[in-house]
Amino acid sequence: ARLAILLSGRGSNMVALVNAVQHGVLQNLAEVAVVFSNVPAAPGLATAAGLGCPTASRSSQGRKRAEFDAEVVDVLRQYQPDYVVLAGYMRILSPTFIRAFAGRILNIHPADTHQHQGLHAYEWAFENRLPETKITVHLVDEGLDTGPILAQHPVDLRGADTLAEVERRGLAVEHRVYAETLAELIKQQLAPTAVPQAAAATVH
Ligand code: GRF
Repeated sequence: ARLAILLSGRGSNMVALVNAVQHGVLQNLAEVAVVFSNVPAAPGLATAAGLGCPTASRSSQGRKRAEFDAEVVDVLRQYQPDYVVLAGYMRILSPTFIRAFAGRILNIHPADTHQHQGLHAYEWAFENRLPETKITVHLVDEGLDTGPILAQHPVDLRGADTLAEVERRGLAVEHRVYAETLAELIKQQLAPTAVPQAAAATVH
């Protein structure tokens, strides 16, 4: 499967995905078609290039959402992605974008999306002294962090007494589960459809 990985900043999840493609759970299942950013100067974009990934960018600064997203869809289509994988892509996607890749856009959110949506999820967990938070991988729909959940993984936060420690523990889980969840999804979607029982029974 061909992946378009979208980021706006640091890109640590992108690095974890690329590592998984190169020598981890996504090996032989996925390839990185492109790493795209709406921030041409994003550190993650340079990191991706250094890892040998094709990269592309368009600045979203001062652009109208629908118009910018239409341009991004055009750019991404040139790379023929099977999945659009959001990895710290700090934009809400317009309906045009969602429809262009319907059911094939994934996001990772560092909290239970039923309890917390949007930015600052680790701050939220830290300030509320949660004993545990949940990393959520979900399909993206037109809401903010509302799409169908593919996987959730707990992060033990007991004894994490700084925000940095909360983030360190959470990111370690993010980096493992995003690739794992994507690998499972690709395998499921590659698997031949099961033969219905009745049809199987009539084959002699
Ligand atoms: C991660 O915490 C991710 O869950 C959230 O944004 C952050 C991106 O970090 N959506 P990075 O750019 O992957 O390092």
